[in-house]
Amino acid sequence: MSRFLIAAFATISIAVAAGAAADDRFPSISNEALRSECGDCHIAYQPQMLPQRSWRKLMDALPKHFDEELSLDEETKQHLLRYLLDNAADKSKVDAARKFLRDLSPGDTPIRITDTPRWKDKHHELPKSFWSDPRVATKGDCAVCHTEAARGLYDDDDGLRVPGPNESWRRWEDD
Ligand code: HEC
Ligand code: HEC
Repeated sequence: MSRFLIAAFATISIAVAAGAAADDRFPSISNEALRSECGDCHIAYQPQMLPQRSWRKLMDALPKHFDEELSLDEETKQHLLRYLLDNAADKSKVDAARKFLRDLSPGDTPIRITDTPRWKDKHHELPKSFWSDPRVATKGDCAVCHTEAARGLYDDDDGLRVPGPNESWRRWEDD
């Protein structure tokens, strides 16, 4: 093969690989307050995973936040809510957002990402033993398996690991 052809092939395969990865990537969170106020107990979840009505419901329920008390001053709360709404699944233009919105019925307002059809679909094949592993605190503990989750990367090749025997970690094989 000529040198020119090899170079052309290399360029094409790089472009394809980058396109595939960009598809599933979530934009990194550019709101500093969201990362600090919402990233202490779990990662700051990407707003693109829930629709606007879900973020409204979650933020309206404060200071009650699941089993926690989460008090924020009104200004901070409104600032965070605005960012969540501007980047929500039904507002964002990125593919990753569209995928989360796709299977959600309009009457459904989950306040857990782990209750969305997309999340369930992606995790239903995982063995129950993963969720009872002491290293996995809750299903929402994304970063324990998706080690690059805080950067918006959830793909198999992006630092995904799962609990293995004897406190080891292993790569996930789709078997
Ligand atoms: C003081 C600790 C704490 C802080 C700070 C916190 N959370 Fe949470 N969050 C929790 C707990 C505890 C749960 C429920 C975990 C469980 O039982 O599954 C949770 C769950 C969630 C879930 C559902 C996760 C799932 O299961 O899909 C979302 C969404 C969420 N939080 C968003 C936020 C947002 C937005 C903020 C910032 C306004 C925030 N959290 C700040 C403790 C916290
Ligand atoms: C116990 C480990 C574990 C936890 C915790 C976990 N996941 Fe996953 N996740 C996986 C595995 C394994 C896959 C790959 C499933 C497959 O494709 O067969 C996956 C797949 C995904 C995918 C699809 C990636 C793609 O491009 O196909 C997304 C998105 C995702 N997870 C998001 C999350 C989010 C958000 C959380 C937290 C709310 C989370 N996951 C928690 C193990 C985990």
